Amino acid sequence: MSFLSQTLARVKPSPTMAITGLARELAATGKDIISLSAGEPDFDTPEHIREAAKAAIDAGHTRYTAVDGIPQLKAAICDKFRNENGLDYTPAQITVGTGGKQILYNALMATLNPGDEVIIPAPYWVSYPDMVVLAGGTPVIVEAAMQNGYRITPDQLEAAITPKTKWLILNSPSNPTGAGYGREHMQALTDVLLRHPQVWVLTDDIYEHLVFDDFQFVTPAQVQPELKNRTLTMNGVSKAYAMTGWRIGYGAGPAELVKAMGTLQSQSTSNPCSISQYAALAALQGPQDYIAESRSVFQRRRDLVVRGLNECPGIVCPVPEGAFYVYPSIRDLIGKTSAGGALITNDEAFATALLNETGVAVVFGAAFGLSPHFRISYATSDQVLADACARIRRFCEGLR
Ligand SMILES: Cc1ncc(COP(=O)(O)O)c(C=O)c1O
Repeated sequence: MSFLSQTLARVKPSPTMAITGLARELAATGKDIISLSAGEPDFDTPEHIREAAKAAIDAGHTRYTAVDGIPQLKAAICDKFRNENGLDYTPAQITVGTGGKQILYNALMATLNPGDEVIIPAPYWVSYPDMVVLAGGTPVIVEAAMQNGYRITPDQLEAAITPKTKWLILNSPSNPTGAGYGREHMQALTDVLLRHPQVWVLTDDIYEHLVFDDFQFVTPAQVQPELKNRTLTMNGVSKAYAMTGWRIGYGAGPAELVKAMGTLQSQSTSNPCSISQYAALAALQGPQDYIAESRSVFQRRRDLVVRGLNECPGIVCPVPEGAFYVYPSIRDLIGKTSAGGALITNDEAFATALLNETGVAVVFGAAFGLSPHFRISYATSDQVLADACARIRRFCEGLR
């Protein structure tokens, strides 16, 4: 019998590791590798936030804090929800954790019993299904197809709900597709949920500020206030303020749930980093210029990448509403053979051949639960993106 737990045996290591490992090996041999797999902004954290962290150290904010966040940060988060989302929360309804990831994990661990089902639209952020499994629940995957704008439909949601459904996880704009649910689409889903009072909503709003053109971000509790008492709204500073390494995320929801999540956190990690909490406070309360600046850079890069990929024979790349990913289809390339002799049997074979033959590392769609696609993160310079698109184009032109 294995020394490791039976639960862990059911959890997969990140499926993106294989391609990342291969990219690293090839780079070590001196090959010119372009990695488009990173899930983080390529900018530095704004200066006033870094300064606030230094000041926090000098002011002695280096000790344990309240388990689920300092009061000032909770108050700033309440202001954020009120001003940006029209949502009124009290500090007792706010929890701060080590990244948005811990908020999601705490929520699932605090609520799932064996047999409880969690609806997850695919393609999904890789961690959702495994977190659900770790917490003892059962992921129920619903396909958000490209022809539906990578959004699930109200009928699909209705069909997936059973008496055992506990949560619906929503992520708009999405990693890996960049697709967003505008007000109408969101309203259609929340209408379905009103008919099923046992279902709660776990909404991952981490890409809230990265939206393009005239897309207006909305969050479920804002669109349907009746759902607020069964919604956990998760957000954080990682993507909005280029603070991925600082590890601060937060959630807002019913006080009873928030308290239970705090209990779990008190017996696992305790408070999120004290210094990072003061940095997050500065991020939320300070100048917001970075948000608009990064949004315009990402929109320019999105346009560059979408145009470049759609010029590749056999690739179809929809225009995403937000985040910094594109998720093109390679349906027309399956069954072809590359110039280097690799048979493209599926999206993993595509990504492997692309890496071996052109040095461009992308993440294959199977990792996110919807094939045949691949994900590109365009959180890198215009020049690198243009070079990558040119290489992908040559690769596609060489397929027979
Ligand atoms: C959809 C989604 N949710 C959550 C996270 C995690 O965010 P954090 O850095 O706040 O833990 C990520 C990070 O890649 C993400 O893409």
